Parts: sequence; structure tokens; C-alpha cells
Amino acid sequence: MAAARLLAAALLGAVAWLAALSVAAQSPTLTVAGRDSSRTFTQQALLADPNVRSVTVADPVYRRTMTYRAIPLAALLKGIPINADDHVQARAIDNFSVSIPGRLAASADTAQVEAFVAIDDPSAPWPAIPGKRDKESAGPFYVIWQGAPSVNVSSEYWAYRLAALAVTDSPLKRWPGLAVGPDVPAGDRIRTGLDSFVAVCMACHRFNGEGEGDQGPDLGRPMNVTEYFQIPALKKLIRNPQSVRQWPDQKMPAFDQSALSDSELDAIVDWLAYKARQQRR
Ligand code: HEC
Repeated sequence: MAAARLLAAALLGAVAWLAALSVAAQSPTLTVAGRDSSRTFTQQALLADPNVRSVTVADPVYRRTMTYRAIPLAALLKGIPINADDHVQARAIDNFSVSIPGRLAASADTAQVEAFVAIDDPSAPWPAIPGKRDKESAGPFYVIWQGAPSVNVSSEYWAYRLAALAVTDSPLKRWPGLAVGPDVPAGDRIRTGLDSFVAVCMACHRFNGEGEGDQGPDLGRPMNVTEYFQIPALKKLIRNPQSVRQWPDQKMPAFDQSALSDSELDAIVDWLAYKARQQRR
């Protein structure tokens, strides 16, 4: 009898333990990796972190003012060595990834710009992202930005549905084929075009096979886009693809002036055209 009761108690204990384990397995986690270290945080652990505070932002993804529970990205990256030209790669649950300059990501110069990881709270979950057909929210984790409007934070750096952050080499070190040759003077628009291409377009597009975006086509090969689009139409398409052609499953977003200024757009097209000329030589 005693043995049976003991067995029943042991079984109940095991069931409770398994249930606890499966809750832990369901709870989303965020991995933060340096070059030789990696930590994984659960949603609950992050929400309970003493660095978490309430942060209100003009949110380009939700297209309105939003207030989040958020932890400064600098606090999450604390103790992880980041070199001056390193980047922090933000990878989403669906593997979409964007590379954020480390000097912005880890900036503690809060007068300039400060990045946070917002944490969705299961007791008050975020709404669905407007305009997304999957009706999912930006959670469980979401990189958000506060700062002077003069500081250029690419709209792509608002990395939602985040799963992992990892310190990596800069995109130009990883993909040297994107670089501009020494023939182009410092300060030339072609150079700023490359920077904007890396910041805004590479999350989805590769160029001549370089990069790891896989949502949109390679813009360099087999044929460079400046060789089969008329330049004014290409600019129109990049500003707002639906102003040129439409179909139900169209995915490329429009970029308004705040996401991409006219001079940035012109510069990206200059860089694309420069790469086409470089290839023909
Ligand atoms: C969020 C992902 C995403 C971003 C960011 C993005 N694109 Fe796209 N782009 C796409 C997708 C997907 C397509 C394929 C058409 C579609 O589904 O809209 C596309 C198509 C294109 C095309 C048409 C190519 C062709 O041969 O038809 C051009 C040109 C282009 N993108 C340029 C750019 C440039 C330049 C940027 C940066 C300013 C950019 N895209 C940023 C996803 C993106």
C-alpha cells in the first residue's frame, strides 16, 4: 500500500516535472552570441530583468506610437567584445536577418540613439503587425530604437520576431565583392549608395551572390537591374513597387522618405550602375 502510494506520488511528480519542462520549451527564447560565447534567455527571465523599462517609440512597423517593456541592447551585449567595425546580426524566427552596425547597437550614447529589445508580455500580448497577412505580432522579441531623428537608423534595423543576436564581421568584410574600387573618390555618392544598400536592401537581396538575403532576387546577376530597367522606372519601383506593377503575393515593401530619402535612393541606383560598369570592364 505504502509502496503503491509512493509510486503514485513519484508518477505525479514526474508528470508535473514534464509539464514544467514543456512550458519552458514553449516559452520563446532569445540567444545572444559573441564570437566565443553565447547565452540564451527565456521571455520570463528577460521580463524580470532589472534593466527592463517602459519605452515609448514612434514605431515604423506598427505605424503608430507604441509603448513596450524593453531592455537596452547595450545591457544585453554587456561583456561581449565588439570591435569598432563589427556588426550585430539580428536573426528572426523565420531566419530573415539584418546586420546592424555594432556602434549603433551597443551605443550607450543615449543622447544620440539607443537600441532596445522589446519583450512581448504573454499577459498582454502585442497586436498583429498591420498589413501582414499572417496576422502575427512583432513578438516575441523586437529591436526598437529611440534617438535623434538626425541619426540614420535604417527601417530594416527595427528587427521584429527576433530569435537571436550575434556579433559578426561587417558586411563589407564578409562580402568584399560589394566594395567600391579606389577609382571612386571618398565622399562620392556611389560610396553612400553602397552603405544604404547594405543597410536597407541586403536584408532581402543578394548582389552577385554576395550576402544572405533570400526573400528577393539577386540584383546583380545574371543581369544587373540597371541594365534591364529604365532608371526612372527603377527608382519608382524601389520607392514603391506597387506603383510599377502589382500581384497578390507581392512582398517588397514601399520605402517612404523617412525610410529612404531621395538622395539615398539616387545613391543606391548610382552604386548599382557603378557595379554594372565595373563588371563590363
Ligand atoms: C523585406 C524584403 C525586401 C527589402 C528590404 C527590399 N526588397 Fe526589393 N524585392 C523584395 C522581393 C520579395 C522582391 C520580388 C518581388 C516582390 O515580391 O515584391 C523584390 C524585388 C525587387 C526589384 C525588382 C527586381 C526584378 O528583377 O523584378 C528591385 C529592383 C528591388 N527589389 C530593389 C530593392 C532595393 C534597391 C532595395 C533597398 C532599397 C530593396 N529592394 C529592398 C524584397 C525586398
